[in-house]
Amino acid sequence: MKKVTWTWIVVSVISAFGSTTALAQSGADTYKAKCVSCHAADGSGSTPAGKSMKALPFNSPELVKASDDDLIAATKNGKGKMPAYKGKLTDAQIKDVVAYIRTLQK
Ligand code: HEC
Repeated sequence: MKKVTWTWIVVSVISAFGSTTALAQSGADTYKAKCVSCHAADGSGSTPAGKSMKALPFNSPELVKASDDDLIAATKNGKGKMPAYKGKLTDAQIKDVVAYIRTLQK
């Protein structure tokens, strides 16, 4: 019986850690999966696609000043050549990916 209890505790602790990491990572993961091709890993927009479409670097003053709502709206609805992600990403994923973009502005 004792052995079973320990196994259960170990399994719960591991899965709790696993899910916390997944939450913290999800914005970064979404960004790496969907956004780097144009915006580049550092948010500079310096990839060939980003350059040809003139994606602004995320750390440019107007995007640092833009509200979260502005960036969320641009991600949801698209802007210029930027594709719309409404229906492709959930609201929660969009919020997380914008939070990740904020970390690229520092
Ligand atoms: C196919 C290339 C492409 C992909 C993929 C892409 N973007 Fe963009 N993005 C652009 C371009 C181009 C602009 C500049 C739009 C403009 O100002 O005309 C832009 C602009 C933005 C802006 C700023 C809008 C503003 O106010 O200037 C945000 C925020 C943004 N993208 C988020 C994302 C996120 C988040 C993803 C991934 C889920 C993503 N983008 C994927 C091309 C892309």
